[in-house]
This record gives sequence, structure tokens and C-alpha cells, in this order.
Amino acid sequence: MSTQPVSSVPVIKRKKTTVQTLRGKKQNGEVISMLTAYDYPTALAIDQAEIDVILVGDSLGMVVLGYPNTLPVTMEDMLHHCKAVSRGAQYALLVGDMPFMSYQVSVAEAVRNAGRFLQEAGMDAVKLEGGRERLEAIRAILAAGIPVMGHLGLTPQSVNQLGGFRPQGREAAAAQRLVEDALLLQDAGCFAIVLESLPARLAKLISERLEIPTIGIGAGAGCDGQVLVTHDLLGLFDRFTPRFVKKYADLHGVMAQAFAAYKADVEGRAFPAAEHSVEMPDQEWQVLLEVVANASH
Ligand code: KIV
Repeated sequence: MSTQPVSSVPVIKRKKTTVQTLRGKKQNGEVISMLTAYDYPTALAIDQAEIDVILVGDSLGMVVLGYPNTLPVTMEDMLHHCKAVSRGAQYALLVGDMPFMSYQVSVAEAVRNAGRFLQEAGMDAVKLEGGRERLEAIRAILAAGIPVMGHLGLTPQSVNQLGGFRPQGREAAAAQRLVEDALLLQDAGCFAIVLESLPARLAKLISERLEIPTIGIGAGAGCDGQVLVTHDLLGLFDRFTPRFVKKYADLHGVMAQAFAAYKADVEGRAFPAAEHSVEMPDQEWQVLLEVVANASH
């Protein structure tokens, strides 16, 4: 009997994305795709779409937990959602976002908390916000063998200092500081940097100066990759939509319609129908009727 495979088409095995894959993509001029996820089914679908990186962002606080900003998000919140995402995604590089106050207080706490993302929650790397003021923590986390993604520009955990969710780096001095910070993060060993809400030409300049990839959100097409908050892309979060978001669906509308249709079916007794119900064999039913009848005498 022949042991030849039926088809001669080679089976290309999909490989897990690593930090080295991202560096290779930048070197080859290939664009990196990244999305956020906070749960198992979304992670499955994003992984199926072959997105390179899944960020379990602390945007969780706003789009899933209903807070006005990301400041109330805790380590326990993040780990809970990271665990769900890591059960759903096999191939994407998984990045856990370090929440407010998990890396600012001391370098030792920063390392311990970063370690929990890998040890307890199945992440491959962590992300944290800030530039020169975070170098010590970043170096210590890297020394523990944990890859770090930087985040510059609009850093939502500093919303109170920044005076709101507003674009950054629009004046030359602020822009120059961001260029310097990006180089410092690269020199410290970050494997990539998120650039959020920056003038497109500034983000392009930074991307061209760096050897590591930049991932833009509201930072134009000159970055090495793009990220969006999945709930914005899907139209699931209808409280507000930032200008830089492209909505690919209106899932809030789809959900609202489905819930209204369900309510109408329940109230009109159209649901459940026979096909949604469990049947009992007639013989067993007859036995039950007899037992019930005898018991009531
Ligand atoms: O928390 C998050 O989702 C983020 C992205 C906006 C990059 O940090």
C-alpha cells in the first residue's frame, strides 16, 4: 500500500510570532498588525485572522469594565483577562499591558509584576508607558528575561498630567523629547514601541530613526505597524470613537437588534420552539404520570 500523501501541496505550518519575527518584518519592510483582546473568543478570532500581536491592553478598563479611564485597572484585572486570551491564541505574540501603579512605585515591584504576566497569565511580553523616567524599570524587567514594549505619545495612564486624551508632540520641543525618548527606549532594549496620537510626520521620523519597530495608533501610516482597540474597530464601544479609528463593523447595533428580537420572541412565545426543547420518551412519561397520580392519593 502506498504511503505517499494524497496531495503534493506542501503544508506550511504556521509559526508562533516572536519579538524576532517583528524585527524581521521591519527589516523586510513588512507591516506589523496588532489588535487588543480581553477574552477567549476574541483571541481565537484574532488569531484565526493571523494578526501578528495581541495586546491585552489596559483599555480593558474603559471598553470592557466601564471606567472613565484606565487608572482603576488592577494587576488582578489584567491577569484575569490575560489568562483568557492566552487560552484562545496560539500564534500571535501576546503582550500584557502593565496597569497604573504596577511599575511606577519601585523597580522591584515592576519586575515582580512583569513576571506575573508571563508566569501566571501566559503572556510573552509586557508593555509599559513612558520614556526616560521608566528606563530603570525597563532595564530591570529586561534583565529578568522579559521582553518589553514601550509606549510613547498619548500615554493614557498620565491623562491627568496631560490634561486629557489629546495628541502629543505638536510643538518642536515636545516632538524632540519624544524622538530622544524613543531612542532611549531602543537603547534600553525595548523590542518595539507603541506611538499613540502623534503627528504623522513625527511618527514617521521616529520610525525611520529606529531599528526596532514602531506600532502606531493615531500616528499615521509611516509607522512600522498599526494597532487599534478591537472594541473600537468592531463598533462595540459606542461611548465615543476617537477620530483615528476606522470602524469595520457595528456590533453594538447588531447586538442591540439581536437582544430586541429575542425579547420579542420570548414575549410572543416564539422562543423556545420544539427544536430548542428536550424530549422525554413516551414510556418514561407514562411511568411518571402514574407515579405522580399515585403519590397524590
Ligand atoms: O491599552 C491599550 O489598548 C493600549 C493601546 C491603545 C495601544 O495601550
